[in-house]
Amino acid sequence: MQKIDVKLGQNSYSIIIGAGILSQTGVKLKELDLKGKAVIITNPAVNKLYGTAVKQSLIDAGFKTTVLEVPDGEKYKTLESAGKLYRQLAESGAERTTPILALGGGVIGDLAGFAAATYLRGVPLVQLPTTLLAQCDSSIGGKTAVNHKQLKNEIGAFYQPKMTISDVLTLKSLPKDEFTNGLAEVIKHAVIKDERFFVYLEKNLDRIKSLDDNVLEAVAAKSARIKVEFVESDEKDTGLRNILNFGHTIGHAVESASNFQVAHGQAVSIGMMAAANLAVKLELMDAGNVTRLKNLLNKAGLMTKLPQVDVKQVMLAMQYDKKVQDGKIRFVLPRAIGQVFITDDVSAAVIEKVLGEMK
Ligand SMILES: NC(=O)c1ccc[n+]([C@@H]2O[C@H](COP(=O)([O-])OP(=O)(O)OC[C@H]3O[C@@H](n4cnc5c(N)ncnc54)[C@H](O)[C@@H]3O)[C@@H](O)[C@H]2O)c1
Repeated sequence: MQKIDVKLGQNSYSIIIGAGILSQTGVKLKELDLKGKAVIITNPAVNKLYGTAVKQSLIDAGFKTTVLEVPDGEKYKTLESAGKLYRQLAESGAERTTPILALGGGVIGDLAGFAAATYLRGVPLVQLPTTLLAQCDSSIGGKTAVNHKQLKNEIGAFYQPKMTISDVLTLKSLPKDEFTNGLAEVIKHAVIKDERFFVYLEKNLDRIKSLDDNVLEAVAAKSARIKVEFVESDEKDTGLRNILNFGHTIGHAVESASNFQVAHGQAVSIGMMAAANLAVKLELMDAGNVTRLKNLLNKAGLMTKLPQVDVKQVMLAMQYDKKVQDGKIRFVLPRAIGQVFITDDVSAAVIEKVLGEMK
């Protein structure tokens, strides 16, 4: 088991990562001085797999426990779902001291986190992430949100949990595509910060894909530590934390130009390749790094070529991205594996050329 202390002044908390630790949830909550009632927010699929174990551990630790289900899927990450949860929380007698436990992937983490941040002006939140993406990325950093109209994550709050418990055994039931999507963010963390971690991934990818407990724990912990470092230095995402957007500028545009037919992780993979190709084209990075990145992404099952999307549509989608400021597209580009920087000095013509070459 590994413990990461997230140092954010009054908002500090710990992330615990290990195999089979969901059953310790109740005991861990008691150690935080939480008592009385607890509410688990999850979806039917995850509830069926892990709801009973979490509920039992809470009951064993003396909590009066309620389970609330939200239907599975991004389309339920809405204000309507939050509204329904507020009513159910009130009906279950949830008070200001009642912890909400977000049991699921990033959708549940964001929605239940948003409900916890806003119900009664904020109740204790505990994240119990069950996807690779949630354990390595979305459950860390305190961003909670719902989608509104067509806009993703338009309404939200920064709200740190009291604790995060990442049980890597839950990753064994994850559909393969979801696992592969999560690997894109893991590889992203290595590229932006840690060459040694990149080498570890190169050496251990087969063991990761065969879901070896020890390797999963090491990967989730290392990846989480890298994100934590950025969050600690820029909790409210006003500068340095932008580096975590590596691969996302073009990635989001590909996702949107494909009408969301290309999954998020796959799109981020293409975005990372595009950023690496841009860096080589601008003579900022040695081409050997692109080969290494491409090999690792491909081995992980991630795309490195532009699929059937129109380059012009990708360029257009990029203009609408949140990362565009004063008409300039902000990019995170690599100088080497483990070393990146932020720039808005990349011309649209070069981006278009690089994308054209990635067909
Ligand atoms: N807050 C942040 O900083 C942040 C960062 C990145 C992404 N996100 C958000 O995360 C969301 C995507 O999260 P995701 O990729 O985890 O998707 P998800 O939450 O939709 O989960 C993917 C699927 O896996 C299922 N599932 C979850 N855990 C499982 C398990 N252990 N076994 C079997 N099935 C399981 C879910 O029911 C779902 O069908 C998006 O809404 C995105 O906006 C947030």
